[in-house]
Amino acid sequence: MTQPNAAPATVPGKFVTFEGIDGAGKSTHVNAFVETLRQGLARVGRDVVATREPGGTPLGEALRKLVLDEPMDIETEALLMFAGRREHLVKVIEPALTRGDWVVSDRFTDATFAYQGGGRGLSLDKLSVLEQWVQGTRQPDLTILFDLDPSIAAARLAGARAPDKFERESAAFFTRVREEYLRRAQASAGRFVVIDAAQSIDAIAAELAGVFARLGVPGH
Ligand code: ADP
Ligand code: TYD
Repeated sequence: MTQPNAAPATVPGKFVTFEGIDGAGKSTHVNAFVETLRQGLARVGRDVVATREPGGTPLGEALRKLVLDEPMDIETEALLMFAGRREHLVKVIEPALTRGDWVVSDRFTDATFAYQGGGRGLSLDKLSVLEQWVQGTRQPDLTILFDLDPSIAAARLAGARAPDKFERESAAFFTRVREEYLRRAQASAGRFVVIDAAQSIDAIAAELAGVFARLGVPGH
């Protein structure tokens, strides 16, 4: 039975993504962000799907292991990112948004432009073709970019966890990744919230609290 306070099923949900270089602090905040969002949306009968890329589906998680662990041609790497993304969109993201639920993804296509484009130097035009093929006009409604100097991020990660293929990349690589993220944030300023990730964890959490009002989350 439909709940009396449920919004009409025709109102689509919103799609929010978290981005930033490795070690910028995304994982530290994403779970609490999702939980607060879930509590607000429960008032209008909506839920939140928390997901990630690479990953988000059984096939995507299998591809994640390959792209994070195996050396491969950079175009193969980009194609696998988009293959996993297609599956993620069709099986998880689009159905959730159609139901009226919201989706929070730890990384999405901005990461491909930043890492495979900026970091690896792959043609941005080629990536745009794949983006159009795989997702049509679908874009996140809001992208929260954790922006941090790569030397600070590297210091945070040192000894924190076993580095994967990307986390073993050079400071120069992460400088290029950061620059491409910032370039995209500037080019689509209405979609991005850029967080100065050098702040304390509490200061960042306070900034994130302001995002709920911007998103129109009930109770904020
Ligand atoms: P990401 O998910 O962006 O790779 P994490 O959230 O895993 O980054 O954070 C990387 C490391 O930095 C963790 O050890 C975490 O505790 C620490 N950290 C996260 N945010 C901050 C912060 N604002 N100040 C100092 N250290 C932080
Ligand atoms: P992430 O899940 O954030 O790593 P962790 O769980 O270690 O914090 O991201 C995994 C890595 O994949 C990260 O280094 C960025 C990289 N990546 C790309 O290179 N291209 C992409 O399209 C995506 C989604 C991720």
